[in-house]
Amino acid sequence: AVQRTFSILKPDATERNLTGAINALIEKAGLRIVAQKRIRMTREQAETFYAVHKERPFFGELVDFMISGPVVVQVLEGENAVLKYRDVMGATDPSKAADGTIRKLHAKSIGENSVHGSDAPETAAIEIAQFFSGNEIVG
Ligand code: CMP
Repeated sequence: AVQRTFSILKPDATERNLTGAINALIEKAGLRIVAQKRIRMTREQAETFYAVHKERPFFGELVDFMISGPVVVQVLEGENAVLKYRDVMGATDPSKAADGTIRKLHAKSIGENSVHGSDAPETAAIEIAQFFSGNEIVG
């Protein structure tokens, strides 16, 4: 079925001017960018977004990183978009990511790993609603 997923191009990607290269990989995989904006996340937005990781030892570092520079938030649409985008991203740890994936090609480390993608359709709906209003998504 056609789904939507939420994507973030993280500060390590914007810093190295990689947003176009990453968008090319997304579009080549058949995913459509139906909403996109470049923002600087507030600490509160990042803490809310990553609330499920609050107890993890890397939470503070993760939030600091996500507010360290601009990010590009996106809604991607396509057949089986959630899993498809996870395939395009590759494993969280770039040293374990498959050849040709965004993280294999571009990620610097497990923390500075260039992209985020939702892990399930239910999560995607929550994440999309945190950053976009309905009229900003144009399918
Ligand atoms: P993301 O998909 O955005 O969701 C949670 C993030 O936590 C993950 O990508 C990683 O960037 C980050 N993360 C996971 N494990 C670690 C770790 N060991 N150290 C730092 N960051 C991590």
